[in-house]
Amino acid sequence: MNIAMIGTGYVGLVSGACFSEFVDEVRCVDKDRKWIEDINRGVLPIYEPGLDILVNKNVEKKRLSFTTDLGASVKEADIVFIAVGTPSRRGDGYADLSYVYEAAKEIANNLEGYTVVVNKSTVPVGTARAMKKIIKDTNPDAKFDVSSNPEFLREGSAINDFMRPDRVVIGVESERAKAFMKELYRPLYLIETPMVITTLETAELIKYASNAFLATKISFINEIANLCEACGADVQDVAKGMGLDRRIGPKFLHAGPGFGGSCFPKDMQALIKIYQDNGITARIAEAVLQVNSAQRSRMVQKINDALDGNVHGKTIGILGLTFKPETNDMREAASLAIIPALVEGGAKVRATDPKGIDEAKKLLKGIEYFEDPYTTCKGADAVVILTEWNEYRALDLARLKKSMKGKAFIDLRNVYKFQEVKKLGFSYTGVGIGA
Ligand code: UDX
Repeated sequence: MNIAMIGTGYVGLVSGACFSEFVDEVRCVDKDRKWIEDINRGVLPIYEPGLDILVNKNVEKKRLSFTTDLGASVKEADIVFIAVGTPSRRGDGYADLSYVYEAAKEIANNLEGYTVVVNKSTVPVGTARAMKKIIKDTNPDAKFDVSSNPEFLREGSAINDFMRPDRVVIGVESERAKAFMKELYRPLYLIETPMVITTLETAELIKYASNAFLATKISFINEIANLCEACGADVQDVAKGMGLDRRIGPKFLHAGPGFGGSCFPKDMQALIKIYQDNGITARIAEAVLQVNSAQRSRMVQKINDALDGNVHGKTIGILGLTFKPETNDMREAASLAIIPALVEGGAKVRATDPKGIDEAKKLLKGIEYFEDPYTTCKGADAVVILTEWNEYRALDLARLKKSMKGKAFIDLRNVYKFQEVKKLGFSYTGVGIGA
């Protein structure tokens, strides 16, 4: 079985590399010549644990290649995936589908023999059907079916999520396409991965509903955290007590500065538009985004409060800049909302991150960057843990305290127990840890 992966961004690159473990050949295509050249030189443009090993191994075995030649790749393929970006359209929150439709047209012009054209990008309901029409209109003789096969990859654990998923969702319309897709995923079927085989529209909606539900859990616990602060309760114990109920589950109940990343904020916006287009008010989705945005502001207020009500003239050491650990991705990271507010308030910000500094430098100006947490916090009035990297989970707190001028310890990911931090002479602020 031969695969073409159109779009070699995060999803395309990870999925292409993983598929190359169990199909004959995967060709990953991208329009960005430099991007492809870099990969072919062995320089991966994204950081994902284990990805370099997987790519190198399968490139060496000639099962995986990277090219800008869409035509040749599509001609050889039994299954063509579209994994191009669907960013929020500027200004209105709709997902921008121009890259998906452009790819569909180019694919249509190059189809040879029966091919399944599968969409992997997160797209509004109805996109697979629109893709089908575009392909048919562009090339009326093409023998093809379309499919929707959303991804559920978390950055930082994407390879494991791909190889051992909770489920595989496949939207199809014909038995032939269903057989192709089942054959493709056979190795996962053998390890008893549940397959949800359904219609195109349902598969598309499963993706949005899943992400929206996870985002809802986060905003829910963040709002509970605010209540905990007001009434002297501890959100971590509340989350534990809730999570032990198997109907609720313990995951995605970590209070913090709110969700970021390339998916949740964008997908929530797009979902709200899908509701609107169907004449339905998206009450929950709207509230989830409002709570998330308010949470960012609340974190800025927390930092001010920990510094006698005003950050003006204060030096703040920030640990962690990416939207979550184990990635260099800065998209919609909490740091992008919180740090500019601190700078605007007159604070001097010193920051560090294990993988995100290069990206951060492009987006966060007017702050200083350092390699390690202790240098970052040198002479600081406050230290703020913004992303829960493992590197910051076992800090030498006495050494940190010594390097600082002040004593404010602001733990926006609830990594530390307040007793251990206080013992060393810090003042402690967490999220949802009532007095
Ligand atoms: C997410 C989905 O999990 C994945 O299934 C989907 O396909 C893509 O979007 P990802 O964006 O990589 O994956 O990150 P995820 O681990 O889900 O975290 C998203 C954000 O939520 C991060 O900013 C994280 O810090 C935050 N989060 C997560 C919390 O604040 N609390 C939690 O309990 C969990």
